[in-house]
Amino acid sequence: MTKKVFIKTYGCQMNVYDSARMAEALAPAGFAETDDMADAELIVLNTCHIREKASEKVYSELGRLRVLQAERAAAGKETRVAVAGCVAQAEGAEIMARASVVDVVVGPQSYHRIAELAEGAFAGRRALETEFPADDGKFAALPARPLSKRPPAAFLTIQEGCDKFCTFCVVPYTRGAESSRPPSHILAEARRLAASGVREVTVLGQNVNAYHGVEDGQTWSLARLLGALADIPEIERLRYTTSHPADMDDDLIAAHRDLPQLMPYLHLPVQSGSDRILRAMNRKHTADHYLRLIDGIRAARPDIALSTDIIVGFPGETDQDFGDTMRLVGEVGYAQAYSFKYSERPGTPAADLDDQVADAVKTERLAALQEALNAQQAAFNTACVGRRLPVLFERAGRNEGQIVGRSPYLQGVHAEGSPALIGAVVECDITAASRNSLSGVIKSWNGDASVAPMREIHGRL
Ligand code: 5AD
Ligand code: SF4
Repeated sequence: MTKKVFIKTYGCQMNVYDSARMAEALAPAGFAETDDMADAELIVLNTCHIREKASEKVYSELGRLRVLQAERAAAGKETRVAVAGCVAQAEGAEIMARASVVDVVVGPQSYHRIAELAEGAFAGRRALETEFPADDGKFAALPARPLSKRPPAAFLTIQEGCDKFCTFCVVPYTRGAESSRPPSHILAEARRLAASGVREVTVLGQNVNAYHGVEDGQTWSLARLLGALADIPEIERLRYTTSHPADMDDDLIAAHRDLPQLMPYLHLPVQSGSDRILRAMNRKHTADHYLRLIDGIRAARPDIALSTDIIVGFPGETDQDFGDTMRLVGEVGYAQAYSFKYSERPGTPAADLDDQVADAVKTERLAALQEALNAQQAAFNTACVGRRLPVLFERAGRNEGQIVGRSPYLQGVHAEGSPALIGAVVECDITAASRNSLSGVIKSWNGDASVAPMREIHGRL
């Protein structure tokens, strides 16, 4: 008998990817995905631990689920609840103890067991599964992706965990040590994606440029892997995220020059512009090292769009340190960025530091930083107006007759066009920009705007 599963995803792309894999692992056990939580026999919360109050948010969601479960029970329907993701990994035992509504706690290394655990839950067994298996078997054990049609842009996890131990960050504790999937497994998955309509692959990892997958006794770098992915004919675009400056090696920089499929966009978190704070964060790079890297990357790919993560108010951050961050931002010129107030993560070294910064100071610094970053983003987008950019159309827009895609620089682009263009890379003349997206006009083909997919266009141009 079919049951319905609702998966709620919090946090990063890694979780988006993992949720899709969990849905696939559950399908053969008779769980069909639904986007209506109230209609689901199985509810999975795929949680994120990266920012403040993550576990409180999970507990309040669980409170709501308890009510939903009671309502469904009154209507004679069963409901089981699973908590997955990084909060599950970090606080699984406590969740089991505190929240009786939870039947299954499953950490990110155990998703290949989710179907079995869910079936156990319907048979009345609660389970806590947060071990790190020695064999990295999670990916190999997950079922092959069916060759149904998929959206044109997909994520593919190639690396998990992190050995960097930035002093503010929980990832090394929740996701464990760095591990890389073997190149052959990744390439097989990419070919399957390509065969089901995927044209753009973003390879993912918490520290993706530390990738070091082993095949036949040889270690592959990220640059080598990207080169092999670029050889898959249907894959027109490649991206990777998230990177650490210390792992930005020369080969990877050269790939930005040599691989036309590698899109001119790089998310390279800097976290701070102050060497003193970078040292306290255990970032393993200085501001100058970062700026020199950016110079090298821009020499390889002059039009590259840069993105970053920045934390304000790390313990001990002075006005002068913050000024250094503002100066670095001014020097780099970001196309887009994420910025956060520092928040304590229990168990991380920075949480024990005495000189925590007052919240009002953090708020003020964040506002100043975001004003600068927003202005840079708006300027970057405005500079695209009047240019002709190739856009990979991904989906229908909200308005009738509109389709939405992405530029090489990861900007959203809206245009009037036929849904037949979804999945094609089409040249667009950019006519307008806002802070968050662009508008474009599809380059007409023989006066006809309802152009054929790019492969055909390439053949005729
Ligand atoms: N406080 C604030 N921001 C954090 N990040 C990670 N941990 C913390 C924390 N304790 C931010 C970093 C990281 C991004 C994913 O989240 O900038 O790069
Ligand atoms: Fe966390 Fe990224 Fe630092 Fe690793 S490199 S510890 S994931 S911030």
